[in-house]
Amino acid sequence: MTTRRRFLKRALLTSAAGMMTPAPVLGMMPTGQESTSMPGWIRDVRRQIPASRDRFFQTAGIAPSPTPVLDVVSNMLHYQNKGPVHPDIWPTVAATEPDLRRHFGAMFGAREHEIALTHSTSEGINIASWSRNWQKGDEVILSNQEHPANLIPWYNLATRFGVVVRRLDLSTGTSLMDGMRSLVSRRTRMVSIPHVSRNNGRRITNDESAELAAWLRQQDIRYHLDGAQAPGCVPVDFRVLRCDYYSTCGHKWLLGPKGTGAFYCREDMLDRTELTWTGSHSTVSYDQEGGYQLIPEARRFEFGTRALATFRGFDAALYWMQDVGMDRLLQRVDDLVVFAIESWKERGYRVVSPEDAGARTGVFVLELPARLTGRAVYDALRSGHDTFTSPVDGPRDLRVAIHFFNTKDEIESTFDAIESLA
Ligand SMILES: Cc1ncc(COP(=O)(O)O)c(C=O)c1O
Repeated sequence: MTTRRRFLKRALLTSAAGMMTPAPVLGMMPTGQESTSMPGWIRDVRRQIPASRDRFFQTAGIAPSPTPVLDVVSNMLHYQNKGPVHPDIWPTVAATEPDLRRHFGAMFGAREHEIALTHSTSEGINIASWSRNWQKGDEVILSNQEHPANLIPWYNLATRFGVVVRRLDLSTGTSLMDGMRSLVSRRTRMVSIPHVSRNNGRRITNDESAELAAWLRQQDIRYHLDGAQAPGCVPVDFRVLRCDYYSTCGHKWLLGPKGTGAFYCREDMLDRTELTWTGSHSTVSYDQEGGYQLIPEARRFEFGTRALATFRGFDAALYWMQDVGMDRLLQRVDDLVVFAIESWKERGYRVVSPEDAGARTGVFVLELPARLTGRAVYDALRSGHDTFTSPVDGPRDLRVAIHFFNTKDEIESTFDAIESLA
């Protein structure tokens, strides 16, 4: 081997090692000094999240990624680009998706072969919505707390096939099972509802979900959860939820790169799930005469050339969250939400999102003082206060999405700013 080739090979292998283990993420997580206003570990993580310089309460929209996560994406892009088909490079790059499926599955209660990697929650919702051969008059049940991503695909089925969309009332405090019993008919084929609503922050509790799943299964009604707002915000275990399908993304509460997601298809549902979009990489084999055999795993829903560097960043984000400590960060989200509920009520106003443990989440939604609208306050906070919140469906509702890197001081000063607008 010439010196130049030896050098190149060593350079490739060295960068491959850095690519596979997000070591900088682990190494950059010191314990820090505790203080009452901001614990040391929060100060440390905020240094890695540039957007936390502002009052960032928009994780439920589009979240910032920690810098080490983006470094992994950038390093991987450059590494791949050194030789996209080089035998020393490709195996490292190609390991990205199996590694991520395994890692994501282990964190959220699935096996590797039950996970398909997607680019958004919406992509997963589309896989679920096209999973049946729809007939005119078939019914689907959605809720009254949906993001458009879990409406438009079903409206499209209504337009194309005459599917009937029915709406469950998931306002804060309603009974999920009572509502469901009043809506299900012999034409109901699927239920697709948010695990955590982007609109009122309500979480379907584990007990509610397990009861619903068992009841739907007796009637051969499929059960899909839109989980865009859940992993990284509340504890998630697909086996406990007992849903058939689950769609989520990396770019909200998991702080992953934009354009990352995952779709869970329970093992026994795979062969009952119609495939709509497909292509190269979905099959074990095919021929030129029309023969093909699908991969017997959820990755049959993946096809074409994929954004592997971005998926490696998603994996790095999962490691980063685990380094911070999933249990302690979820606990901190809940503690901050309890603080926000108390503070907003003490000021004499109403909280729209649930207050009960189990149903409340980081998607905290408040009712604004009279005469203020969510849209106007969102604009005023954004331009005048470097504070990022979000309007939702209710004209007087404002979503203040609280992640673990936020602080009590930020919550208080945001509430002060809202009151000053009133
Ligand atoms: C409940 C819910 N579902 C789906 C989506 C769409 O997510 P994505 O952009 O990952 O497709 C969102 C985005 O805010 C959401 O809140």
